[in-house]
Amino acid sequence: MAGEEKPKTTISVIKADIGSIAGHHKVHPDTMAAAARVLSEAKRKGIIIDFYVTHVGDDLELIMTHRKGVDSPEIHGLAWEAFKKAAQVAKELGLYAAGQDLLSEAFSGNVRGLGPGVAEMEIVERPSEPIVVFMADKTEPGAFNLPLFRIFADPFNTAGLVIDPKLHGGFKFEVFDVFESRKVVLKCPEEMYDLLALIGTTGRYIIRRVYRKSDDEIAAVVSVERLNLIAGRYVGKDDPVAIVRAQSGFPALGEILEAFAFPHLVAGWMRGSHFGPLMPVGLRDAKCTRFDGPPRLVGLGFQVSKGRLIGPVDLFDDPAFDETRRMAQLVADYMRRHGPFMPHRLGPDEMEYTTLPQVLEKLKNRFVKEELPYHIKKRVSEMLEAGSE
Ligand code: F6R
Ligand code: MG
Ligand code: MG
Repeated sequence: MAGEEKPKTTISVIKADIGSIAGHHKVHPDTMAAAARVLSEAKRKGIIIDFYVTHVGDDLELIMTHRKGVDSPEIHGLAWEAFKKAAQVAKELGLYAAGQDLLSEAFSGNVRGLGPGVAEMEIVERPSEPIVVFMADKTEPGAFNLPLFRIFADPFNTAGLVIDPKLHGGFKFEVFDVFESRKVVLKCPEEMYDLLALIGTTGRYIIRRVYRKSDDEIAAVVSVERLNLIAGRYVGKDDPVAIVRAQSGFPALGEILEAFAFPHLVAGWMRGSHFGPLMPVGLRDAKCTRFDGPPRLVGLGFQVSKGRLIGPVDLFDDPAFDETRRMAQLVADYMRRHGPFMPHRLGPDEMEYTTLPQVLEKLKNRFVKEELPYHIKKRVSEMLEAGSE
């Protein structure tokens, strides 16, 4: 009707590891059923419009649509309740690490900071609204930096940036500094090098949102929760999720998927402490086996229509990604042969958040100090002084 505002739809993807079967391997179907029961009841009551419950490895994933906007206490409360119910089942079945990501006993209006990962966007649906929900296991949010850059800023990946006038203006990237809790927005193509200067540091500067520059339409959103920073101790990697809008003024579905045809190295894998290739897989292979990995990525495609989730289609369940998976296996072999050495094992900064410091603590008193020659000592103290200025 003329003049009537179109209703807004919110897509919320909220995930948590609430326990899994045979180690940190795969979500148990009974826990998914418990979560689905909670969401089904909420759908019946009209709190949410639609939902889809799935898993990637040991992460339980709730995909929901509703009209309540991002950060809605009601929706976050609902997700919390679904995770709690699923965790109860996990405990009852004696599943491994039952309740792992529910870091707090009490819910206080928002699941951010309590353990679960969250990616949400509020949109006015286009006449046809294709989206992709990406969900990864055994890696961290920065794993999406490289592919998101390629999707929204690299013409060698996304032909539309060159060819399609609707994309030609470029995109804006909101980058979040997880250590300092601050953000910066950078435009592409004009600030591309500045953007890359930040997002190459994948453990710190994370692409959180992408907007189309011409009209500020939201194009993509990533969960940026870093559990170990929240918990102050090692609690696994953060196994991120992302939502990306496709087609008609956004990158085509195939341009979005193309960015994952290269199995780039990401931090995570065994004990959240190793670099390994991100392997895109279909749902049937969404489980972590070899060396607790390699890190896996699932992509589910939906049409969002009047808030309903039509789908999904299992996008990486396709021979077109066989070579990517084969390359991932080769890279996994190559990296594994480094054993406990860097650069397979993460560097000391990232290892701070693992169990390694506990081991190093034991050696502290075994080190014997050695006197440095005078000229070196002087130089070191000069350098230290210069550094503290
Ligand atoms: C990584 C992960 C696993 C565990 C590993 C040891 O995110 O979850 O690789 O770190 O299986 O687990 P625990 O210490 O529970 O035996
Ligand atoms: Mg886990
Ligand atoms: Mg996981």
